[in-house]
Amino acid sequence: MAAEDDVMPVLKGVAAPESLVKSRQRVSDHGEVFTPVWMVEDMLDLVKDESERIDSRFLEPSCGSGNFLKSVLKRKLATVHQKYGKSDFEKRHQALFSLMCLYGIELLADNVVECRQNLLDEILGFLGTSPDDEWIAAARVVVEANIAHGDALAMTNPEGEPIVFPEWGYLGVGKFQRRDFQFENLTERSSIKGTLFEMLEEHEVFRPLRTYPVMSIKEIAS
Ligand SMILES: C[S@@+](CC[C@H](N)C(=O)[O-])C[C@H]1O[C@@H](n2cnc3c(N)ncnc32)[C@H](O)[C@@H]1O
Repeated sequence: MAAEDDVMPVLKGVAAPESLVKSRQRVSDHGEVFTPVWMVEDMLDLVKDESERIDSRFLEPSCGSGNFLKSVLKRKLATVHQKYGKSDFEKRHQALFSLMCLYGIELLADNVVECRQNLLDEILGFLGTSPDDEWIAAARVVVEANIAHGDALAMTNPEGEPIVFPEWGYLGVGKFQRRDFQFENLTERSSIKGTLFEMLEEHEVFRPLRTYPVMSIKEIAS
């Protein structure tokens, strides 16, 4: 019997089996056990309002294949549908903005690919676009930037360089703002909140590495 077949998925009631481990080796090497959907949903219910708010930002530092991020995205998209369902233009832009507010870091390359693809499948299912659409290209840019391949503890990518995350803002009328920050600086920022150093944050610690011109979907895609 292969090592992969050796482990039982965690079940609740009669729910369909989910594959929560890939191999015993990976569990032992990386603590890779995915969280079942029912548990993800129970946990997100503890922060229900935040998980459903379109512009709330979530970072999952060891995101695996994105079980938490995918569920948060589903919740945000339900809000988008409810609030903007009548305007296709706003619905699409707000949906992409939901995706822009989700971040992940994952050590293993195959999980990174799966996580990005799972989020893409979710958003493209919602948008209902054809595969050659610029929306797909824009969503791809977003997941490649927001789901980082790297070590969440060292805060570096596989090349040993600092992890960089984009901060996206939706300005309305189809325009987005992007600024890139070093992940380490963002964590420093939260550590000085409420201290005497807080006044320094905007110009000393919380400084973007790069500020992009305001962009449309087409410009993000290209
Ligand atoms: C217990 S799994 C959880 C995955 C996901 N968060 C979930 O709940 O389904 C832990 C994940 O963290 C990843 N991991 C382990 N060490 C890491 C590190 N230093 N930085 C980033 N990811 C790491 C593993 O590859 C694995 O995918």
